[in-house]
Amino acid sequence: MTKPKQQPTSDTDMQFDRQHVWHPYSAADPQVENYPVRSASGCQIELADGTKLIDGMASWWSAIHGYNVAEINHAIEHQISQMSHVMFGGLTHQPAIELCKKLVALSPEPMQRVFLSDSGSVSVEVAMKMALQYWHGARQPQKSRFITVRNGYHGDTFGAMSVCDPVNGMHSLFSDVLPQALFLPAPPQGIDAALSDDWLVELEQAFISHSDSVAAFIIEPVVQGAGGMRFYNPQYLQHIRRLCDEHQVLLITDEIATGFGRTGKLFAVEHANITPDIMCIGKALTGGTLSLAATLCSHDVAQTVCQSAAGVFMHGPTFMGNPLACAVANASIDLLLRSPWQQRVAAIESQLRTQLAPCADLEGVADVRVMGAIGVIEMHQPIDVAALQANVIANGAWIRPFGKLAYVMPPYVISSEQLSQLTGAIHNALAKS
Ligand SMILES: Cc1ncc(COP(=O)(O)O)c(C=O)c1O
Repeated sequence: MTKPKQQPTSDTDMQFDRQHVWHPYSAADPQVENYPVRSASGCQIELADGTKLIDGMASWWSAIHGYNVAEINHAIEHQISQMSHVMFGGLTHQPAIELCKKLVALSPEPMQRVFLSDSGSVSVEVAMKMALQYWHGARQPQKSRFITVRNGYHGDTFGAMSVCDPVNGMHSLFSDVLPQALFLPAPPQGIDAALSDDWLVELEQAFISHSDSVAAFIIEPVVQGAGGMRFYNPQYLQHIRRLCDEHQVLLITDEIATGFGRTGKLFAVEHANITPDIMCIGKALTGGTLSLAATLCSHDVAQTVCQSAAGVFMHGPTFMGNPLACAVANASIDLLLRSPWQQRVAAIESQLRTQLAPCADLEGVADVRVMGAIGVIEMHQPIDVAALQANVIANGAWIRPFGKLAYVMPPYVISSEQLSQLTGAIHNALAKS
C-alpha cells in the first residue's frame, strides 16, 4: 500500500490558520507566528520548509521516547485492526485492563483503583470530585474546600483553575467565578532549600485553622511546572503528608508533568518516600502520542466515595478508556521500562548542568536550575518569545519560552550531540537577545 503524501502547508493555509484556528493561549489576531511542521521523528521536528530542529520540549513533557516510534506505531496499527473505540459504560476490554494492571503495579502501593480520562485537566477534576465525594461518604460534607500552594499549575478546566496560582496560574481573569481555594506560600525554591521552623509553624497553623472545611491538599510533587518551573525540597512533602494525616485532609499529588521518570524517579513522590491518597497522571502516559490521563486512588478512598448518597462515583467521560490510547500507553510504558531510562535521565541532568551553567553569566539571567531531565533559565524580565524562538530556530532547535522562563525537557532518547546543539542554541539565542 502506498502511503498518502502529506501536502506542504501553503501560504493560504497559513493564512487560514492565523484567521480561524485557535492555538494555546493565542490571540484572535496573533502577533506571533506558528511554524508549520511537516513531520517529527526521533528528537527532530521538521518544519514545512525542511528546517530540522532538535526538540527541547518533548511536546510539553509528553514525548519521552521522541517521535514516530516504531513500537508505538505498531501498537496503534495492531489496535486499530481490532477496535479504535467502544464505550466504557457496561463494557470493558483488554487494553484498559492491561493498562490499569501496569498502573497499579507501578504507582505507590496504596494506589489500587484507576479512573481513566481524556486529559490532565480532566484527571484533576476527577481527583477533586473524588475528594469531595469521599467526605460525603464519610458523613462530613462540610469538608468541601481545597488547600494548595502558590505557583502551582493543574490545568485549564474550572476545578483545576481554582487551584492554580491565582496570579501566575494564567487564570486570574476568572477569579470571581472560581471556587475559593486556600493558598499557602509556595515551598522555598531549591531541592536543598531549608524549611525554617517558623515556616513550618505557619503551615501547621493553616491546617489547624481550616481542616474542618478542607477536603484535600493538592500539589505537584517536587517540581512546580507551568506556575514557575520551581523545584522544592522533598521534605516539604513529608510535612504535608504528616499534616494531612493529623488533620484528616486527603493528599492529591499531581504527577501529570513529573510522572514516568522526568525527575529521575518514576514518580516524583518517591523522592520524599511518601504516598498520596489520590494521584493524577497524564502527558508521558502515552509517550505523547494520544491524549490520555488517569486518576488513581486507594481502596479506602474508592470505598468511601461510594458510601455517599450517590452510591457510585459520579463521573464518566464518553471516551473513557479509549482502547487505542490504552494500547499506546501500554506500549509506551513497556518501552520505558525496557529502556535504561534512569541512566538516560541522569546523563541529561549532568549534561544540562554543565552546558546551561554558562547561561548564568549572560546579561538578564536571574537563575539557572536543573533537576532530572529538566533545565530552566529564569530571566529578570519577561522574554520576547517571538524573538528568542526565532533565534533558537536559527540555531537548529525548538523551545517554547513563557513569562521569564526559557526551559527544556527533552525526550529521554536525546543523544549527547543533540543535547549539546540544543543547549548551544539556547545560549547563543539568549546571548543575542
Ligand atoms: C502539573 C500539571 N497538571 C495538569 C496539567 C493539565 O494537563 P492537560 O494540559 O493535559 O489538560 C498540566 C499541563 O501542563 C500540568 O503540567
